[in-house]
Amino acid sequence: MEFNTQSTRSLQQLKATALFIGVYTDGLLSEAADIINRASYESIKTVLKKEFKATLGSILVLRNLEGVKAERVILVGLGKKEDYNANALLKAHASIAAYCIEASLTDATSALLEEPCKDLDIQMRARLAARAIGNALYQYEGTFSMDNRPTPHPLKKITFITDRKDDKLAKAGAAQGAAIANGMIVTRQLGNLPANICTPAYLGEQAKMLAKEFKTIKAEVLEKKQIEALKMGSFLSVAAGSEQPPRFIVLKYTADNNTKKEEGPIVLVGKGVTFDTGGISLKPGIGMDEMKFDMCGAASVFGVLRAIAEIGLTRDVIGIIPATENMPNGKATKPGDVITSMSGQTIEVLNTDAEGRLILCDALTYAERFKPSAVIDIATLTGACVVALGHVNSGLFASDDTLAEQLLSASKQAQDPAWRLPLDDAYQEQLKSNFADMANIGGMPAGSVTAACFLSRFTKAYRWAHLDIAGTAWNKGKEKGASGRPVPLLTEFLLAQQD
Ligand code: BES
Ligand code: MN
Ligand code: ZN
Repeated sequence: MEFNTQSTRSLQQLKATALFIGVYTDGLLSEAADIINRASYESIKTVLKKEFKATLGSILVLRNLEGVKAERVILVGLGKKEDYNANALLKAHASIAAYCIEASLTDATSALLEEPCKDLDIQMRARLAARAIGNALYQYEGTFSMDNRPTPHPLKKITFITDRKDDKLAKAGAAQGAAIANGMIVTRQLGNLPANICTPAYLGEQAKMLAKEFKTIKAEVLEKKQIEALKMGSFLSVAAGSEQPPRFIVLKYTADNNTKKEEGPIVLVGKGVTFDTGGISLKPGIGMDEMKFDMCGAASVFGVLRAIAEIGLTRDVIGIIPATENMPNGKATKPGDVITSMSGQTIEVLNTDAEGRLILCDALTYAERFKPSAVIDIATLTGACVVALGHVNSGLFASDDTLAEQLLSASKQAQDPAWRLPLDDAYQEQLKSNFADMANIGGMPAGSVTAACFLSRFTKAYRWAHLDIAGTAWNKGKEKGASGRPVPLLTEFLLAQQD
């Protein structure tokens, strides 16, 4: 997908196959719609009076408008003018994409970008618009036979109409948005692939492929022997019951022109459980297929690295992915087993289904060697987080208030919501074990908090935050599939760390 910008003095003279213009409920026109309306003898106003309500995301196609050169003018409902915000902008652009797909357009022109949108400058509007359209074009096609494989959408080019003075920022924003969409698509594709294809070894290969595609990315893929040499006893205890060998993946993005070398890299750690059966503490059968999504944290690390490499971020970023299945067999870890983590701390495994924290803790210890300025882990960690926040907010935990604020602000900017949950020391007591330094579960109360508390014991050497994406990494029901979250949040955060 290519995003262009173009300036024009007279929109009605523009020869476009499809020209999108925004209209509001209550008959209000955007600036672009006003121009087209006047050129076409008030035809837009007439339509608004008679048949088009302009509710957010609705579409009406007008052909052969007198006085207008575009083949068709497509009205896009923006809802109420006073409510037109970032979220509305994303929805409106998803509708534009949906129409382009339905009408099999190869290119289209949008005059929506100059429309003022609550607190968003032109670059931010372009970033969100391009992201919404780019992301909407993804289709899962991985495992259909030829007969049922969806044909790729023909849409190749979107041109945004901009004021000449805005052109540079609009172009920059659109390029960033396109990169974020490409990152989300990588994340969604890896998440959607079934666990018999997307194994730890497959993720390792994908890491090498990503490094091949971008010269700013290097990949290191450690195998079982090397993981043993690092003494990652906790990670290996989860891998013990699986026929699929684990991988420990390190992706290094080195900026071409790093402006903040002295600060150390930002490290992202993603939970890469390619299938979570629960292990010996076996999960119930209903809905267990969704545990193929238990590597969505890892997939989001891939997505973010892909996005920032395309953007050319000016900060160094390292992605760390412990990848394994969680399976029961004769070699599997049993409830009550005591294991020794890379940090030296011992853990009593009271429930083998609390495996995410067991693989993350060793990755968090490994992260110390990079002297990071901040470490953020991303994990489909607890069902309790879904109970607490549903499918709207990701759970955010942080040992550092500044880091928490920066992530929350990025989350708002990117319309990828997160909600901060507590990490008080008092919760640590629930992790007490009579047989080891800690237990791997803290009982029913505040399950997401005790999971985060467990992780916090391995993060004393740096500023740290944790995103629990158990409720937000994938959609259920008819739209079942990976969501691409929290790639927008994290990329927005990293973009803000540049300056
Ligand atoms: N991957 C799951 C968490 C999960 C469950 C994510 C449902 C999304 C939807 C995680 O490994 C897990 O099983 N957690 C347990 C922890 C418990 C045993 C303390 C859980 O949440 O039930
Ligand atoms: Mn589990
Ligand atoms: Zn899990």
